[in-house]
Amino acid sequence: MDMAKSKIAQWISGLLTDTPAQEIMAMLEYPKEESLGDLSLPCFKLSKKLRKSPMQIATELKEALEAKAEGDEFIDRIEAVSGYLNLFLKQSYLAGNVVLTILNAGERYGSRDIGAGKTIVIDFSSPNIAKPFHVGHLRSTVIGNALYRIHSFLGYQSIGVNHLGDWGTQFGKLIVAYRLWGDEARLEEGAIDELLGLYVKFHKEAEHDPGLEDEARACFLKMEQGDEEVLALWQRFVDISLAEFQKIYDLLGVEFDYFTGESFYNDKMEPVIQELKDKQLLEEDEGAWLVRLDQYNMAPALMLKKDGSTLYHTRDVTAALYRKQTYSFDKALYVTDYAQNLHFAQLFKVVGLMGYDWAEDEMIHVPFGRVTLEGMSLSTRKGNVVKLEEVLEQTIEKVKEIIEVKNPQLQNKDEVARQVGVGAVIFNDLSANRIKDIVFSWDDALSFEGETGPYAQYCYARTCSVLRKAAGDQLAGKAIVDALLLAEQFDPAKLQHPTEIAILKELALFPERTVQAAAKLEPSIVTRYLIDLAQAFNRFYHDCPILVEDERLRTARLALVKCVQITLKNGFNLIGLQAPEEM
Ligand code: ARG
Repeated sequence: MDMAKSKIAQWISGLLTDTPAQEIMAMLEYPKEESLGDLSLPCFKLSKKLRKSPMQIATELKEALEAKAEGDEFIDRIEAVSGYLNLFLKQSYLAGNVVLTILNAGERYGSRDIGAGKTIVIDFSSPNIAKPFHVGHLRSTVIGNALYRIHSFLGYQSIGVNHLGDWGTQFGKLIVAYRLWGDEARLEEGAIDELLGLYVKFHKEAEHDPGLEDEARACFLKMEQGDEEVLALWQRFVDISLAEFQKIYDLLGVEFDYFTGESFYNDKMEPVIQELKDKQLLEEDEGAWLVRLDQYNMAPALMLKKDGSTLYHTRDVTAALYRKQTYSFDKALYVTDYAQNLHFAQLFKVVGLMGYDWAEDEMIHVPFGRVTLEGMSLSTRKGNVVKLEEVLEQTIEKVKEIIEVKNPQLQNKDEVARQVGVGAVIFNDLSANRIKDIVFSWDDALSFEGETGPYAQYCYARTCSVLRKAAGDQLAGKAIVDALLLAEQFDPAKLQHPTEIAILKELALFPERTVQAAAKLEPSIVTRYLIDLAQAFNRFYHDCPILVEDERLRTARLALVKCVQITLKNGFNLIGLQAPEEM
């Protein structure tokens, strides 16, 4: 569709004054109603500029375009209706162009080079050491991973950074607590719960023993000064937590280029503080140092505490400068819960005030909504957290039960249950606009009929099963399911059924949807697309027999199935969803 769209945009632009093809491209819509054409240009915006009514513009464009498009390969007919210019594309163009493009491009279908030569740093997941990896971090992990993959597919160099919460006063608290109440044996077992228990106990005890807080601060200061004994203990906490987090990353299939957490900046903050001072941005306030942001209607950003220790902000300013210098990024994303909106607004402002003009354009906070688990709220402070690993494991268990009922014969049940269970969680996290709060419900996420991961994966498995059957079928012959052979023997005129046309149109949209998902930093555009495509395929599957006698029709339908298989898989890849061939 891309090609037709840009050609048509060029033609229309040529018929108007002062309206570049780019602008027309952005205005062209895909109507929901079939009767309104395949592409539609609303003429309302043009009306002011051209000083004509939208209907007059549409009518004039229709006539001029008909003359221009005479005998072309794209346009079948044009209508002007209530201020819209509706274009109907030729079936032969749609079928020929779309199917051959996909069969030839294969796993590259939808990829682009619009990001070539550009680097995007994506700060995501970033859980906190000595605390459980909770569903909020899962959301950051899943969204960040999708943005990483989408940008890579579009030619960007993506750099994934895990900005672990491995530094700060809370480690002072933890060390103090461990020395007072810690259990070596339990720590030896690698119990992250032991660490969380200590943290919770510390807060409880500190309520009536404020001296503890002072001790914790002193302890963290020692860490910042490089005290070996304290650092050795801290390192153990880090190792235990990392091993725990790694299990989850393995389950999800998520990788990072760098695990440079907050502690990584410990020896890099001093020059940054100095720079802030030199640029007269740092102001003393009761012994602490901060950057005032009243002018921008924001609370001040605290950079140094009274005792000289650093904060979350100090490390983020330092990390921003480090990343710009090290990776010379074109864009830097930060994927967190919207609770950190203010933090990032302050951060970008401070870096901007330091004179780095890229700060406010190139650094982008990508906030997302809260997750609740079937009505239960998830809080870390009180210790009643729902751990992600448990959610994942239970989901996998439930999928296993479903498989036992639906397909007890299935070969690699455990592996498939893992792919579908994890996929259900990933898909659920990416289904709605990211800013929306979501509720995780097993029934919804695992429904094979709803708009879910399992539904999309099941549709994929169905395409595989059709192609497998065809390969073993006398009529089709083994080789015919090969993409390139299908392309060779493909007759576009054979795909005339409305459900076939609907799939063709859906398939054609994939490249644009990917670009939109990147532009809006919104992976839900991909999940929405996958559901639309899967639904279109299921309608076709229901209405049209595939392994029919008519050889040309059979080949054409198999080619269409192959295209759906390729496109679904490419889409799954963008969001980190596995593609089981049988389920
Ligand atoms: N560790 C933080 C948290 O769990 C998220 C860090 C996000 N990244 C950053 N550069 N501040 O809330």
